[in-house]
Amino acid sequence: MPESQSHGNSRAVFSTQTGIHEQLDKLLHRHRSHPFQKPYTTYNQAAYTAALQAWKAAGKAPLIIDAGCGVGLSTRRLAELHPHHFVIGVDQSADRLSRLHQSVPELKNFITVRADLVDFWRLLHKDGITLDYHYLLYPNPWPKKDQLRRRWHGHAVFPTLLALGGIIECRSNWKIYVDEFAHALTSLTDQFTQSEKFSIHPYALTPFEEKYHASGHDLWRCQLKIPT
Ligand SMILES: C[S@@+](CC[C@H](N)C(=O)[O-])C[C@H]1O[C@@H](n2cnc3c(N)ncnc32)[C@H](O)[C@@H]1O
Repeated sequence: MPESQSHGNSRAVFSTQTGIHEQLDKLLHRHRSHPFQKPYTTYNQAAYTAALQAWKAAGKAPLIIDAGCGVGLSTRRLAELHPHHFVIGVDQSADRLSRLHQSVPELKNFITVRADLVDFWRLLHKDGITLDYHYLLYPNPWPKKDQLRRRWHGHAVFPTLLALGGIIECRSNWKIYVDEFAHALTSLTDQFTQSEKFSIHPYALTPFEEKYHASGHDLWRCQLKIPT
């Protein structure tokens, strides 16, 4: 049962954008043609090594990444939902990761780790590791028009995160984010997907999902099995 509390006072995302950003296709093309190259930080490399050690120690089950896991509640719930997988929740915020204190002693198939996803995804790819599922649940929307490059599908790392394969799912309370994400998936994989409105059932997967639901927002998601 969920133990996070709902706060039904979130404001809907405001943006001057009324549809998919007109620069998205150009950006996707550029990022596909020019692989993202930036040195990894020592701190991300250490976090990555620790996460892989935990995965190997737990038996190297097929992997699930909970990207931007926040407090890690969804990481734990995904581990419950997928008992034969190992779930790694990644978030850059030490503060958020420290807030989930309830432990589930019998649950050994997940870990949360503090790291920047931009390095974490690239390190997984460099090691040839592939995923069974990849969740991006309520990423920061960056709704201003000039913030497209901060959205995951507008970031240079996007082709790398797709190369990890698996069933990828993105959720947001801002439809345009999911429309753009679905458009980017379709564009880079030639497999069609689109955003769909959904209702939480039987309970919210994440605290943000719970908060947006309690605030009466529509929730959107898209999903695609990435061909590898
Ligand atoms: C809006 S919150 C959503 C948290 C959680 N998924 C939920 O639904 O409750 C977005 C999360 O993404 C994390 N994040 C943003 N950019 C990141 C990055 N480059 N690497 C790792 N985490 C990141 C933030 O720290 C934040 O916890």
